[in-house]
Amino acid sequence: MTRNLSEPIAALAALRAEMNDRGIADFFASDSRRFASFHVELDDLLFDFSKHRLDRTILARLIDLARAAGLEERRAALFSGANVNPTEGRAALHVALRNMDGTPIHTGGADVMPAVLAERRKMLAFAESVRGGTLKSATGEAFTDVVNIGIGGSDLGPAMAAQALSPFLAPHLKLHFVANVDGADLADRLRNLALERTLFIICSKTFTTLETMTNASAARTAVAQKLGEAAIATHFCAVSTAPKEVAGFGIGEDRRFLFWDWVGGRYSIWSSIGLSLAIGIGAANFEEFLRGGAAIDRHFREASLEANVPVLMALIGIWYRNFWNYAGHAVIPYDQRLARFPAYLQQLEMESNGKSVDLAGERVASATGALLFGEPGTNAQHAFFQLFHQGTEIVPVDFLVAARPTAADAHQHDLLVANCLAQSEALMRGRSQEEVEARMRAQGVREEEIEALAPHKTFPGNRPSSTFLFRQLTPRTLGQLIALYEHKVFVQSVVWNIDPFDQWGVELGKELALRLAPLVADPAAALEKLDSSTAGLIAHRRRLNF
Ligand code: F6P
Repeated sequence: MTRNLSEPIAALAALRAEMNDRGIADFFASDSRRFASFHVELDDLLFDFSKHRLDRTILARLIDLARAAGLEERRAALFSGANVNPTEGRAALHVALRNMDGTPIHTGGADVMPAVLAERRKMLAFAESVRGGTLKSATGEAFTDVVNIGIGGSDLGPAMAAQALSPFLAPHLKLHFVANVDGADLADRLRNLALERTLFIICSKTFTTLETMTNASAARTAVAQKLGEAAIATHFCAVSTAPKEVAGFGIGEDRRFLFWDWVGGRYSIWSSIGLSLAIGIGAANFEEFLRGGAAIDRHFREASLEANVPVLMALIGIWYRNFWNYAGHAVIPYDQRLARFPAYLQQLEMESNGKSVDLAGERVASATGALLFGEPGTNAQHAFFQLFHQGTEIVPVDFLVAARPTAADAHQHDLLVANCLAQSEALMRGRSQEEVEARMRAQGVREEEIEALAPHKTFPGNRPSSTFLFRQLTPRTLGQLIALYEHKVFVQSVVWNIDPFDQWGVELGKELALRLAPLVADPAAALEKLDSSTAGLIAHRRRLNF
C-alpha cells in the first residue's frame, strides 16, 4: 500500500504547537472523568494513560497516522506468517509459539503449528523430568542446579523471567545464567556449584555466537575434567535452530530442543529458549505464561485501535519522540523481582527499532527508537529521579506495579504502591514557586532564605507517565506485559516504516572483535594497519599485561 502520512503529521504538528500552553493538570481540572476515559482494562491489568500531554483529538490524529502507515494491513501480515522481516527474508512468528490451540499458521506454504506443538511438548516433558528429579545426572543424582549459557535473547528473557517469577520456582532447584564472554561470569557461577548435580543448557539460535560457544566450551571442559567425557551427554542439553552444530557438540537428539529462523532472538522466550524457566516454574506455569502472551495477541488483533493497549503505548511514544523530540523513555517497575525487565526491554525495543534506514532502503524521515532505561522503584527514586523531576530533559515514564505482593510483606507493599503513585502524581503536578514560597512562609522561614531557596525547591511538573497496575506478578501477567511491549514495538516500526526484526547493527562490532582478537592475544602481532587510537590502546595494554 502507498503511505501518505503528510496530513496526519501536519495535523499533529499543529496540535503540538497549540499544546505548549496546556498542561496535564489542566486536562484533569477541566475533565473530572479524565481517568475514566483514559484507561483500558485487560483482565486484571489496567493501563492508565491519563497523565499524558494529549487529549481525544490528538489521540484520534495519532490513530489516523497509524492507519495511514498501514497498521491494520501490517498487523494482519504479522499474524499470517507473511514476510514481515524483508531484510532477512522471513516471517516473524513469535505469536505462533504462544498459540495454544494449534490453529494453523502458515509460512513458506507450510503450517508451523504441528512442529511448534511437538517441540513444546518435548521441551516441557524434559523440564518436568529435571524438575521432578526423574532425570538423573552422570552420578545417578537428581539435578539441583541448572546453568543457562546464552546471550542477548538467549539469556535476557529466561534470566529476567526467572527472577520475576521467583516465588513460583521449585525450592530444590537453582537457576543460574551465564552470558558474558568475560570469564568471570562463568567462574563466579561455577565457584560453588556441584558439577555432579548441574545441568547446562546451551541456548543459541545460531549456535555460533562467540560468547556462548566460548562459555559452553569452558563449561564442557570443566564437566569433562570432573566427571569424565562420557558425562557430557548427560549434563548438557541445547536449544537452537542449528541441530547439526548441536550434535557436533556431543548433545543427543533427546536433549536437542529446536526453534526456527522465523523466531527473532529477542522474541524467543516463548520457545524452548524458555527451557530453564520451564524447569524452574514447571510446565503448567510456563503454559500460563504463554496464555498471558496469547491473550494480548487476541487483544492486539481484535480491540479497536482507540482502546488497543499496545497501539496506545506505541502512539504515545511516537507523540513524544517525533513531535516533542523527547529522546528517552524510562520503564520503572515498582517490583524488585522485575529488576531485569528494563534490560529485557532494552534489547526488545532498541535492537528492534534502533534503525535509521526504512524499508525502501532510504534514510528515515523522523527519529526512531527511544533510549530506554530503568531500574526498580523505589531504588530509582534515590538515583536518577532528580533529573526526571527537575532536569532539562523530559523523560516519559512507564510505571508498573502489582496490587498485591507475591510472597512479600503486605505493609511494605502498601508503601511500595504509595511511592509509585506519588511519583506519577509529582511528575504531573509539580510545585510552583508560589506554592513553595507559601509553604516556606507558613513554616516561618526568613524572607531572604525563601528568595534564595524557592527556585531550587520548585518542580515544573507536566511530566508524562503511564501506569500499568495489575493484580499480582504471576506467569500470566508477565506473559501479558512482555507481549504488550512486543506489539508496541511492532506498531512503532510500522509508523516509522522500518524492519523491527533484523539487527544488522550488531554485526560490525562482532566482525572487528574477531579481527582484533589475534592482535590482542599475540604481543608480537603488527599493529600498523590499525588506527592510532586502537593501536595505541593495544600497545599500552601489552605493556600492562605482559
Ligand atoms: O546481539 C545480536 C544477537 O544476534 C541477538 O539478536 C541475539 O539474541 C543474540 O545475538 C544471541 O544470538 P544467538 O541466540 O544466536 O546466540
